[in-house]
Parts: sequence; C-alpha cells; structure tokens
Amino acid sequence: MAETASTNSALLERLSHGEAPVQGQWLVADRQTAGRGRAGRVWTDGFGNFMGSTAVALRDAEALPQTLALVAGLSVHRALMAVVPALSGLVLKWPNDLLVGEAKLCGILLERQRDAVVVGIGVNLAEAPDVPGRKTASLAGLGYDVSRDAFASALAETWAEDLTAWHAGGWPMLREAWLVRSLPKGTLLGVNLSEEGHVIGGFAGLEPDGAVLLRLADGSVRAIHAGDVELIGA
Ligand code: BTN
Repeated sequence: MAETASTNSALLERLSHGEAPVQGQWLVADRQTAGRGRAGRVWTDGFGNFMGSTAVALRDAEALPQTLALVAGLSVHRALMAVVPALSGLVLKWPNDLLVGEAKLCGILLERQRDAVVVGIGVNLAEAPDVPGRKTASLAGLGYDVSRDAFASALAETWAEDLTAWHAGGWPMLREAWLVRSLPKGTLLGVNLSEEGHVIGGFAGLEPDGAVLLRLADGSVRAIHAGDVELIGA
C-alpha cells in the first residue's frame, strides 16, 4: 500500500467491519500520515523504513496476553539478525522495543479489537527519525543496507514460526529465546507507577506471564505488568 494514515488503524477498521484476521497477512505501507506509537505518542516515518501490521485472532477472549507483545519483539529481533547477521548490540527492552546500544531501532504497538489483536511494527531500516529526548538508530546509519522487502519476508517467516509456537503453548521456550536477546540482567530500568511514582530497579528477568522483574535498591524484586519502561543505564 502506498500511503495510509496508520497500518494499525487500517487493520482495526477492517476488523471493525467484521473482517476476520488472516494469519500471515501483513499490511505494509510506504508512508503513514498519522503513525501511532505507544502511550499516545506519534510514530514518525522515514523514507524506506518498515511500517507494517498484522492481525491475530485470540483463541480465548481473555485480556490481551502480555506474552504476545513479547513474541512480536522476539520475531523482529530474529528477522533483523537473519538479514544482518553481523549486526551487533541489538537487544530487546521490555516489553517490545529493540535497541542498538541505547538507541531505538524498532517500536511495536499492539491494539486490541474484541477477540483480535493488531500488531504494528515500525523498523528504522533507512532513516532514524528525530525524536526529542530519545536516541534513535537506523540500519542504514549503522552501515547496513536492507530493503523493506528483504526485511518483510524475513519477518513474515519468523513471526509465522513464533506465533505458531505461541499458539501451541510454547511460551516457556520463547521466553528463554527472548531472555538471551534482552538487555543484560542488572541493567537499570525506570518505570512510572501511578501509586508509587518513579521506580528504578535492575532488570532481573521475566515472570512466566511476561511481567518484567526489577530488583529494587532494598533487594526486593518487583513484577511490573504494564507501563513504559525507560533505560537508565548499565
Ligand atoms: C512505539 O514504540 O511507540 C510503537 C511504535 C509502533 C509503530 C508502528 S509503524 C506500523 C504501525 N502503525 C502505526 O501507526 N504504528 C505501528
């Protein structure tokens, strides 16, 4: 598709008209005029970047499983390493950002529509947009020339594999695969919690349900189920 407001919005619209999610079908745009990020933020395009969404039918109508958000990050990580095996320093930051060093290379937005979820993925293949207060990276800026088609077909493959494993109850194995690609344990992360304000702790792993574990200064371990986690440092 040449241009759309947002590939997530376009898929949500189709679902709202009763279309069923088609497993393996991706909607990829050349340009988004109103790309959306997490927490109401704007997602800025770059010419040649990947902007795409796919819809997943949920088998039970429970709350959106946190682990699906993590699976999306894992699939993007695996796809990027398939197209650029020499890429170093690519890590997952909970729940589903991909960073190179401290700079963001990819963002993922999951949105629920009744018994389906739209998974939207933006990867800076060609350009790193300027985002005030945030470091951003692109593959081109790191010296790797990857076409959108090459990345899209790698992602279609890793996502199909990971989603099949996830539906089959394979999250425990995917969780291990996520952890080996994540920021190192002990990396300081901060999160704003409505009751307690800003909490800082060292990354200590994932709960079986996908919550992130932070080790606080007093040694206690805190599970965070939702929120915007920021990287503070090593
Ligand atoms: C974030 O990190 O804040 C998530 C960014 C998600 C961006 C992608 S681009 C394709 C899809 N369409 C959107 O409007 N957003 C997602």
